[in-house]
Amino acid sequence: MKQIQKAAELQQAVHQAKDNGLQIGLVPTMGALHEGHLSLIDRALRENDLVVVSLFVNPIQFNNKEDLKKYPRTIEADLELIKNLELRIKNEAQATEVLAFTPSVAEVYPDGEPTEIVYHFGPVEEVMEGPRRPGHFNGVAVVVRRLFDLAQPTRAYFGEKDYQQIAVIRALLEQIKYPIELVPCPIVRADDGLALSSRNMRLSPAARQMAPAINATLEQAAEMSEYEEVDDVKEWVLDTLASYHEVNDCPDGLRFEPEYFEIVDAVTLQPIATWDDAGEHGAVGCIAVWLDGVRLIDIVKF
Ligand code: PAF
Repeated sequence: MKQIQKAAELQQAVHQAKDNGLQIGLVPTMGALHEGHLSLIDRALRENDLVVVSLFVNPIQFNNKEDLKKYPRTIEADLELIKNLELRIKNEAQATEVLAFTPSVAEVYPDGEPTEIVYHFGPVEEVMEGPRRPGHFNGVAVVVRRLFDLAQPTRAYFGEKDYQQIAVIRALLEQIKYPIELVPCPIVRADDGLALSSRNMRLSPAARQMAPAINATLEQAAEMSEYEEVDDVKEWVLDTLASYHEVNDCPDGLRFEPEYFEIVDAVTLQPIATWDDAGEHGAVGCIAVWLDGVRLIDIVKF
């Protein structure tokens, strides 16, 4: 693993790799790596000759400045995790090198934060996270395009926990017409079912104990979908989490506050009214829930 902080240095390494006909895998992250990120890097290492892992907390995708301030920054530990993974799968990996790109904000946005770039992705950004986090997907698209320009990947790896983000990046790729293969990767969960997320670090021990109820509820919803209508499943999930503290012994006044739960077509992300409305890709349930001041998201495939 080699750490690179300068955009020009990354570009130079990428040009050289391209000249040698190498395939590049890009794993964009905001650091605070966990097993979910490592599963993306693991896959990228097996499918490409060179892997670029970017670790950059992108200020322009935070609509909430407090969230930006609180976002965990653990670069040294992150670099250790990448090195260990590289060693662990050395004999199975195709890639012979990992570049850990850890730029400053000025390095990514040399002309200042680009407020003038405005993307329109249509219906996929008008639901769920879109209206609730104004500017978020635009900020994601701006940084991801910049990373695409710098790393010129053959493939780019994204986790399905941020399910809507994948749809937005698919739309971005259609617009900019870069020949990059988008590789969505399954959520990695803790043994108790909680979807791994850098935000989990901010949960108190008591909240962390409660949090798996989100996935457990979604799993039950998947079973219910065999015999219940879409709206009934939706209502049940929201009610079950909102009233969880009334039925269970929750310490410290903790409670779930669901922000939304939508059942949508897996590709268009438009809400469906009946199970048949989902196209051949099926339906996905996407949820955002507040717990202990932390906003958690998760999905279930129907
Ligand atoms: O999913 C994330 O961690 C971020 O949104 C991404 C894709 C790295 C862009 O900053």
